[in-house]
Amino acid sequence: MFPTKTILFIAVVSLVGTFSLAAVDTFVYGGCSQPKYFPGSLYESNVNSLLTSFVNSASLYTYNNFTIPGDIAAVYGLYQCRGDLSSSSGDCARCVARAVSRLGSLCVGACGGALQLEGCFVKYDNATFLGVEDKTVVVRRCGSPVGYNSDELTRRDSVVGYLAASNGGNYRVGVSGEVYGVAQCTGDLSATECQDCLMEAIGRLRLDCGAAAWGDVYLAKCYARYWGRGGHSRANGYGGNGRNNDDEIEKTLAIIVGLIAGVTLLVVFFSFMAKSCDRVKGGK
Ligand SMILES: *[C@@H]1O[C@H](CO)[C@@H](O)[C@H](O)[C@H]1NC(C)=O
Ligand SMILES: *[C@@H]1O[C@H](CO)[C@@H](O)[C@H](O)[C@H]1NC(C)=O
Repeated sequence: MFPTKTILFIAVVSLVGTFSLAAVDTFVYGGCSQPKYFPGSLYESNVNSLLTSFVNSASLYTYNNFTIPGDIAAVYGLYQCRGDLSSSSGDCARCVARAVSRLGSLCVGACGGALQLEGCFVKYDNATFLGVEDKTVVVRRCGSPVGYNSDELTRRDSVVGYLAASNGGNYRVGVSGEVYGVAQCTGDLSATECQDCLMEAIGRLRLDCGAAAWGDVYLAKCYARYWGRGGHSRANGYGGNGRNNDDEIEKTLAIIVGLIAGVTLLVVFFSFMAKSCDRVKGGK
């Protein structure tokens, strides 16, 4: 007999799986340069081959940079997957493919563009930005306040403090109780530049998000975020930009699909058990 725990475990795993999957594809921000290139130009075909290279490379590496040289049609680009997405599982490539396709429809004809999903970042431009530190604030948004005396705030401070530690790598995760934090730089920054970028992001997170239940600060080359038990509901946030109802709908859909998958698994499991029970009975 299988213990009930196994069934519960299967259901929970399928739910958790869908939650994290939904988060990977969630749109954070996107932007395009003002200048446009001519349709059918060499630059256009260079951009297309650059973006295709991103997707191909992402099944091998979680970060890469590309340069297509040229006097008039040079193009530069990089992609960076979140540290918990692996390339061997295909998660990184799936995210990059999604980001590239969204960037393509957002920045039609633009000389440069950047797009951040929760799971990955992609950027291209006609001027090189590779290895150049850039602390421009792109997104800064905070949840509603939790109150200055709460335990959650103490945990938040310890999580954010952990993210700021100078011995941290390119990708940092902090957990305290039910408060989670994550920070990452793009792979083209040196350790020193990454630390400097993250200190700027974390400083803003502390200053701007005060006692907020969650906070996100995305700079051009790094980001730092934290969220608590209430999750990361953008519905009750302020100071936001790049909100997207589609993403909420996608998330809900993903949860429903997850639930259906879980229930289907249960049904299959039970019918399998019923069959093997029959077989045991028949054998007697
Ligand atoms: C990028 O393209 C814009 C618009 O065509 C142009 O003004 C700018 O000089 C270009 N930059 C470089 C580095 O080629
Ligand atoms: C870009 O990629 C090349 C080879 O893949 C690597 O040697 C170089 O260090 C990278 N540059 C940056 C700025 O990441």
